[in-house]
Amino acid sequence: MAKTPFLTTLLLMMTIETVRACFLEPTIDVFVVRNISSDSIPLTVHCFSGNDDLGNHTLYGNEYFHWSFCLNVIPNTKFFCHVWWGSKTQQFVAYDQKAFLNRPMNGWLARDDGIYLTHKYKFQNSVKVFDWE
Ligand SMILES: *[C@@H]1O[C@H](CO)[C@@H](O)[C@H](O)[C@H]1NC(C)=O
Ligand SMILES: *[C@@H]1O[C@H](CO)[C@@H](O)[C@H](O)[C@H]1NC(C)=O
Repeated sequence: MAKTPFLTTLLLMMTIETVRACFLEPTIDVFVVRNISSDSIPLTVHCFSGNDDLGNHTLYGNEYFHWSFCLNVIPNTKFFCHVWWGSKTQQFVAYDQKAFLNRPMNGWLARDDGIYLTHKYKFQNSVKVFDWE
């Protein structure tokens, strides 16, 4: 019984620490958008980092898969995505804290002719980065 208050305090401190880290460091948002002209073939998205596997997600129409996270103090956060659209596929680094992909917003648009990147919410000014393979 005597240990309970200590544990509670410790857990509370850890919670506050997590919230504080998220408050001081920017929240990072990453989107993978199915921006394909209407067809019935879904886009499958699989994103992962060294620590997290976000699983397979199936997107139709203009659906998107989105996740967000707070940065580590150690700048080592890196997420990869693999997308499939019918017989086409592509893999890319979706976020890299050490590289140019270090902005708070990274939107990846899967289009008929390839994969585009934008750093703006609402996905304006996207630039083509990859063709489909
Ligand atoms: C692609 O995304 C833009 C921006 O959200 C949207 O205006 C447009 O309708 C989308 N087009 C297709 C084909 O999904
Ligand atoms: C995720 O989807 C891809 C493409 O359809 C498939 O090859 C892979 O086996 C799936 N992975 C899992 C864990 O379901």
